Amino acid sequence: MMRTLAVLAALTWLCLASVRAGKVGQQQVGGPQRHLVCYYDSASFVKEGLGKLVIDDLEPALQFCDYLIYGYAGIERDSHKAVSLNQQLDLDLGKGLYRTVTRLKRKYPNLRVLLSVGGDKDIETSEDAKDLPNKYLELLENPTGRTRFVNTVYSLVKTYGFDGVDIAWQFPKNKPKKVHSGLGSLWKGFKKVFSGDSIVDERSEEHKEQFTALLRDVKNAFRPDNLLLSTTVLPNVNSSLFFDVPAVINYLDFVNLAAFDFFTPQRNPEVADYTAPIYELSERNPEFNVDGQVKFWLRHSCPASKINVGVATYGRPWKLTDDSGDTGVPPVQNVVDEAPVGTNTQLHGIYSWPETCALLPNQNNIYSKGANAPLNRVTDPAKRFGSYAYRAADKKGENGIWVSFEDPDTAADKAGYVRNNNLGGVALYDLSYDDFRGLCTNDKYPILRAVKYRLSN
Ligand SMILES: *[C@@H]1O[C@H](CO)[C@@H](O)[C@H](O)[C@H]1NC(C)=O
Repeated sequence: MMRTLAVLAALTWLCLASVRAGKVGQQQVGGPQRHLVCYYDSASFVKEGLGKLVIDDLEPALQFCDYLIYGYAGIERDSHKAVSLNQQLDLDLGKGLYRTVTRLKRKYPNLRVLLSVGGDKDIETSEDAKDLPNKYLELLENPTGRTRFVNTVYSLVKTYGFDGVDIAWQFPKNKPKKVHSGLGSLWKGFKKVFSGDSIVDERSEEHKEQFTALLRDVKNAFRPDNLLLSTTVLPNVNSSLFFDVPAVINYLDFVNLAAFDFFTPQRNPEVADYTAPIYELSERNPEFNVDGQVKFWLRHSCPASKINVGVATYGRPWKLTDDSGDTGVPPVQNVVDEAPVGTNTQLHGIYSWPETCALLPNQNNIYSKGANAPLNRVTDPAKRFGSYAYRAADKKGENGIWVSFEDPDTAADKAGYVRNNNLGGVALYDLSYDDFRGLCTNDKYPILRAVKYRLSN
């Protein structure tokens, strides 16, 4: 009898303990919890006009995000320190955004706030900078530099109250695929001879090992404080060159695959194509799709639960010319990188979701002509490649546009892919390109909402 009681007591205790552990591990009960990682690029804070996203605009998003990743910090050339890229904005006493965003945790206690380093936003603009070597690789090559980085990134995190760091290391990118049409292929032959153009980094094996060491050191510095460490694989960075997946995955809480921008007007000025398809399009893009990137990490023993699929909230526009044809069916040849600049983002080669939305057929533009005529929207019922919209050039060769974009439905399809493959979640790039003002349908953050809904239902 005594023994039975003792066993019962022990069982009860175990049961209670596991319930408590379940709570701490955040709602593990009732199926896996998928993560929604929201990027906030603070460059949008300093814009003028409708593209300006201030902290009040951010708040409606935060109920949907498990992680807010604040972008972007950078590294200082030669000193190898982790630094703010805009000290006035980020650090200013009392009103700096580092403190402001980490304080949001008081209001949203389940939110974790990370600082991201790199993200293709750490660009030196001075005249001589373009001839200098990649400072991200230089840092890796220098053991003292690595230590310097680890110490300074740790100190930023601790000083401003972040929950950890996202390392979006600026590795060299794949060269864009050259297009060949008649004359073009001759030219391609020429170029090969002169530039030997397919090698991305001759010392990638070394850099891969050094990057593993860097992540290990950051994780070791973070461990006593239980700080989080994630990495972002930036668009067009070849994971197999720089990520020793089985080694680094031990140091990472999760990895965000920025699986978009496979095609961009900047990289591919002559041909327009889907920028972020989920699956391979015939033989056109064996590795340039979400599934290809995810499979690579899975194949190299990354647990599915640590993979977050990166989803862009923006589109990529090209200008169609006389010679682009009028069907819009991708790949579209003879395009140019000269689409009109979006009025909110004020950036070349990128349209935020509300900017694309305004070009699609709606009550305001249904009878408009010329430069204001609505684009034809082509959806993807098979949920494999995404949407595009286009307006063929007129007789003078003007007003042609072709945009590949993510909308709430296609973004939700990607969340569906995440669920079907039991992945960790979605990483959204970024909040400032979603419709945070509700200009399109009065709903604020429609892409974020659609992703959240599909991840949890
Ligand atoms: C990535 O690198 C591997 C070699 O490590 C190569 O086989 C593969 O083709 C590369 N992928 C791309 C998209 O360049």
